[in-house]
Amino acid sequence: MKSTFGLNIRMTMEGESHGEQVRCVAVGIPAGIAVDTEGLMSFMARRRGGQRNTTPRREDDIPEFLSGLVDGVTDGSPLVVSIPNKNVRSGDYEGFANTPRPSHADYTSRLRYPGCDLRGGGHFSARLTAPLCAIGYVCMCALKERGIYVGAHLSRVGSVCDARYDLVSVSKDDLTARVGLPVLDAAVADKMDSEIQAAAVLGDSVGGEVECAVIGVPGGIGSPLANGIENRLSSAMYVLGALKGVEFGSGFGAVSMRGSVHNDPFTVREGRVVTETNNSGGIQAGITNGMPIVFRCGFKPTASISMPQRTVSLKDMADTEITISGRHDPCIAVRAVPCVEAVTAIVMLDALLDSAGGDIEACRRGIDNINNQLMELLCARMELAGIIAEEKERLGLATYDPQRETAILDRVNSIVETTDLGKGQAISEIFREIMRITRDYEDARRRD
Ligand SMILES: Cc1cc2nc3c(=O)[nH]c(=O)nc-3n(C[C@H](O)[C@H](O)[C@H](O)COP(=O)(O)O)c2cc1C
Repeated sequence: MKSTFGLNIRMTMEGESHGEQVRCVAVGIPAGIAVDTEGLMSFMARRRGGQRNTTPRREDDIPEFLSGLVDGVTDGSPLVVSIPNKNVRSGDYEGFANTPRPSHADYTSRLRYPGCDLRGGGHFSARLTAPLCAIGYVCMCALKERGIYVGAHLSRVGSVCDARYDLVSVSKDDLTARVGLPVLDAAVADKMDSEIQAAAVLGDSVGGEVECAVIGVPGGIGSPLANGIENRLSSAMYVLGALKGVEFGSGFGAVSMRGSVHNDPFTVREGRVVTETNNSGGIQAGITNGMPIVFRCGFKPTASISMPQRTVSLKDMADTEITISGRHDPCIAVRAVPCVEAVTAIVMLDALLDSAGGDIEACRRGIDNINNQLMELLCARMELAGIIAEEKERLGLATYDPQRETAILDRVNSIVETTDLGKGQAISEIFREIMRITRDYEDARRRD
């Protein structure tokens, strides 16, 4: 099973959670992004279980980059991230195929993939968000280079609410201002902790909300209709299991407002068009307006609770009860915070790649990378030409061999024919020039 999203960057999530590894592949990540290992590891640690208010299942979550990252820099090839599963207890999941957990994936996955072994949750397990976070971090590094920052916090657990980002002036510092439980207001952390623990001691779970903001995004990114930024963000966000809703800016609050209050008046500040309020959450008609992008994700209470629940025995076709042991998050929203950031970073980088103009720096780094490879290949080519020059000298042959040059050019032309005409001609000319310069180089070697 594979699940893919993205237009320019194609993100694929694959692997079986109760197997050896979970894996994500991102095709289309630009070359030249520097990724700091320390930052990556602390980002991964924010998602890791084994901490208070999270699942007791603890994995090291050390991402292995099988391709796409060389010496801490992306090389433009597919970014393949694999994370081994070490703390596997497939036995915890035995029985769910016959007595499906209410509101989990057991029943619907069985309908969709009859006979499939999904112990451990398979494609429906949150383990897949580990490699997703690694790729998200790489995208965050790329965004940072462009002055774009992503951050999120736990804005609500049950009935306990954190402070909210200021829709107009959320700052870079606000995006990293999380304390303890990832909240903005330290006073709220204890209350949230009590809310989660109160549910957990009963073997129950509690829902939560994650608020995310992106700052520094230039206006004019996105598309109308089906490829709007809201569409792309929310559609991709649903790779996170337990997500029940996404609201942008004033969100569902807009339902009870009047236009005169909800509209964001335009004004000019320091020569820039901005809006005085930001009920739109930085997006109008699917296109960014240059204000912070702010949205909230609502996560349901974890389905796997240890209280007895009513279910059915599919073997007997009769009602029965289930008590889930296993290791589960009492509040999914806690660990979803970095996951929301990761998905947001992937989607925003993907959207920025739509407009080549907005991505000049990345394209230049790509060209630098290609130049490096070309230089190495041209040096190797010259070395071979030198050996040929010496052989020609020994055999008394002329440097210029029109037949050979025509054969090379014919081959080049037959390959470049498939590219568009302008590009094809340009590449033929480059080769003509390479051969002319090589001829001069061979002559010089023969004179030495
Ligand atoms: C970070 C994260 C952690 C999760 N942890 C659990 C868990 O411990 N137990 C559980 O039953 N579901 C957990 N889930 C949710 C399930 O993956 C999800 O509920 C399930 O796949 C069904 O999908 P749905 O809730 O979107 O319908 C987690 C999801 C995320 C994003």
